[in-house]
Amino acid sequence: MSAPNPVLVLAPMRGITTMHYRQAFVRHFQGLDIEMAPFIPTVNADRINPKLLKDVLPENQSGLPMIPQVIGNNADDFVQMNIALHDLGYTEVNWNMGCPHKPIRKKRRGSGLLPYPDTVDTILAQVCERSPVKISVKVRLGVTDKSELMRLIPVLNRYPLSEVIIHPRTAEQMYNGTVDLDAFEESFQALEQTVCYNGDINDLTFFQSLETRFPTLGRFMLGRGLLANPFLCEEIKCSHLRKCENPVQRIAEFHEDLLSRYETVLHGAHPVLGKMKEFWTYQATHLSNGRKMFKKLKKTQHLGTYKDIVAEFMADAQWLA
Ligand SMILES: Cc1cc2nc3c(=O)[nH]c(=O)nc-3n(C[C@H](O)[C@H](O)[C@H](O)COP(=O)(O)O)c2cc1C
Repeated sequence: MSAPNPVLVLAPMRGITTMHYRQAFVRHFQGLDIEMAPFIPTVNADRINPKLLKDVLPENQSGLPMIPQVIGNNADDFVQMNIALHDLGYTEVNWNMGCPHKPIRKKRRGSGLLPYPDTVDTILAQVCERSPVKISVKVRLGVTDKSELMRLIPVLNRYPLSEVIIHPRTAEQMYNGTVDLDAFEESFQALEQTVCYNGDINDLTFFQSLETRFPTLGRFMLGRGLLANPFLCEEIKCSHLRKCENPVQRIAEFHEDLLSRYETVLHGAHPVLGKMKEFWTYQATHLSNGRKMFKKLKKTQHLGTYKDIVAEFMADAQWLA
């Protein structure tokens, strides 16, 4: 038996799942339970300001429960950030120990902390004692060695973490190759806290295979697969219902909404086009003519031309389920 009512969490994707994206997404699609915002770096207390926190300010949120995420390795800065986030009304903060990018991990931030259980222990001891919020963590299997997470788990088990989100790849894999479900299973069994699975949930079939293999899991974080198919949470929650009606029209309406949000807040065609081109890297996947459209709109530098291309291709597009 699988856990009833799976909890579906939007993965943080820096630069993509911005407050504007999250607001538009929740307006047009159902089925998500929680959002996690992309990471905010921990900084000295005197540098914490509304600009740094803009993406998580309560007035900029979609209405779904949202968990802010931080990245850093300085316990004092981490605690001060948690206090600031608590002042904004948040009760939980996620610590990013998964970011695979080399410049970050070289500074022992993100996944760069995974090989150092003693450092993680020292930071968690202070942060858990002094923070007014619950702490959760998002991890990978390791940097190059996938047994690093297993060596870290005895440390994680010492703290009252509200959740451990596992993306079962190494940092070196970045987002390539396959997720390692055997390694996930080993970590899931060893952890005493609530576990959330993250990685490659791109369709209902894979989601259902996870539920079958891990019937007690219950929490799932979705990133690229949900961005490519925004109906995925609806499909998961209502898999007994017929597929949604007018998917292309709903995508077109979502696109319109997101574009007008970015046109309002960004200055000039260049940044707006930058955001929208990134949007289509995922969103074009399930459109019958998406690849062709993306190729064409990648080249344009003009918003007018961009809108014409999107209108032309969306008029003919079929949704590939
Ligand atoms: C462009 C991009 C930005 C990301 N930004 C973050 C981030 O800010 N914080 C984080 O924990 N993970 C970040 N991730 C990782 C995702 O949250 C997620 O773990 C990863 O995409 C794997 O899940 P998926 O296969 O469902 O996409 C990012 C991934 C991508 C591709």
